[in-house]
Amino acid sequence: MKILGIETSCDETAAAVVEDGRRLLGNAVASSIDLHIKYGGVVPEIAARSHIEVIMPVIRQALDDAKCGWDDIDGIAVTYGAGLGGSLLIGVMTARTLAIALDKPLYAINHVEAHVYANFLTETSLPGYAMPAAQPEFPLSAIIVSGGHSQLVLFRGHFDYTVLGQTQDDAIGEAFDKVAKMLGLPYPGGPSVAKAAARGNPQAFKLPKAKMGKYDFSFSGLKTAVLRLAQAQIGESYDFPSIKLPGHLSEAQKADIAASFQRVAIETIVDKAKLAYEEFSPKSVVIAGGVAASQELRRQLTEALSSVSVPIEYPDLKLCTDNGAMVAALGCFKARAGQPTADPYSLSIDPDLAM
Ligand code: KG4
Ligand code: ZN
Repeated sequence: MKILGIETSCDETAAAVVEDGRRLLGNAVASSIDLHIKYGGVVPEIAARSHIEVIMPVIRQALDDAKCGWDDIDGIAVTYGAGLGGSLLIGVMTARTLAIALDKPLYAINHVEAHVYANFLTETSLPGYAMPAAQPEFPLSAIIVSGGHSQLVLFRGHFDYTVLGQTQDDAIGEAFDKVAKMLGLPYPGGPSVAKAAARGNPQAFKLPKAKMGKYDFSFSGLKTAVLRLAQAQIGESYDFPSIKLPGHLSEAQKADIAASFQRVAIETIVDKAKLAYEEFSPKSVVIAGGVAASQELRRQLTEALSSVSVPIEYPDLKLCTDNGAMVAALGCFKARAGQPTADPYSLSIDPDLAM
């Protein structure tokens, strides 16, 4: 069974073809990130406009790479939430139109849940992908960390899950993006903070870890602590504007702040992931979402779980950030389980969709 996945929840216009929930046949992504960089974050109107411009060529590319015509496609899966309203609309309206015109079943996909399914992709003949040897096993604990979400979720099976904990304020990826801005590093903040951190001392500064409910997170206090630290480093008080900080901090100070922030932000996640492992003994631990690209997260998690022999899975870097493959993979499992299809005449977006 081959499913076409369509993803347009933020600034990536993405489409992919996945077979049987494990084989990646074609994967095309066009990012409008270059258009947002000068604003230091995604501008929703610009993102929506570029989705309109590239969605059909991106779908065509995914089909061509998969060597598929429309007759080969058994269903269409599309992200309908969570995300930016204008962006989601383009993907959903495109998928609805295709489903009606080509008479294909339509599957409505939760973006955050889909991130986990990037870990079920184990095979591809496309060049340049490092795939895991086996699919994760249930029960599995999923650490979902992205620009919009930070959640710890226990899956007992497909579509049978419990959200153990989540962020009470900002997502971890957002904290990386904001800290990058304070340090004058380019958007997106994750990779640029990681790059600066590689030159710094992660123990240079002591930053606070929020004390929350057992599995919940918080990153807004850490963000403010980084701001206060940067102001103190240049001998200024709390009312010094953050926008002026980059011009006053030395490269060495930026590197030490980035490294100390990255260590604590990642520890916040890893501490709770370890706690969840001890309570639920999952057979697999998977990392999902854009922050799954973080080498520091992989390093700390491997170290924290080094005494147990649980497989820790993470997708290829290209499948960590937003993509259509994860949407198509989840679509395959929905189709196989006979889950209800969406009405192509009425499916609407849900920007605040929760898991
Ligand atoms: O999943 P994603 O592509 O989009 C959302 O659904 O939010 O995640 C994007 C987030 C951004 O906040 C970006 O800064 C973060 O993932 N990110 C990273 C790294 N690479 C991307 N965060 C930390 N370390 C990285 N290496
Ligand atoms: Zn995402």
